[in-house]
Amino acid sequence: MSGQYHVVAATSELEEDGQMHVELNGEEILLCKHQGQFYAIAYHCSHEAFTLEGGLLQDGCITCPYHGAEFSLHDGSVQAPPAFEPIKTYAIRIVDDTISINTEPA
Ligand code: FES
Repeated sequence: MSGQYHVVAATSELEEDGQMHVELNGEEILLCKHQGQFYAIAYHCSHEAFTLEGGLLQDGCITCPYHGAEFSLHDGSVQAPPAFEPIKTYAIRIVDDTISINTEPA
């Protein structure tokens, strides 16, 4: 089963390369808009658990503002060190102008 989606924001709340901290079902999530797409990823870096908020969004990746690790927005995979563990990503759904996130694994 794919679990439930929960509305977290309106699409108009995020500008291009905008970011928003979301708490849902006890999980801290960073909602991002990049290249016209919305992504929901872990709020904390897998390196030393600092926050990814404010990290540069570029070429489908986010760069951690602390030590420069890069993660794919699509699947959370590490694209540059010093992190070596992926970050979590969340399923996202856009209906009309609302953004919903599913915190359960696909
Ligand atoms: S905390 Fe993100 S790279 Fe170190």
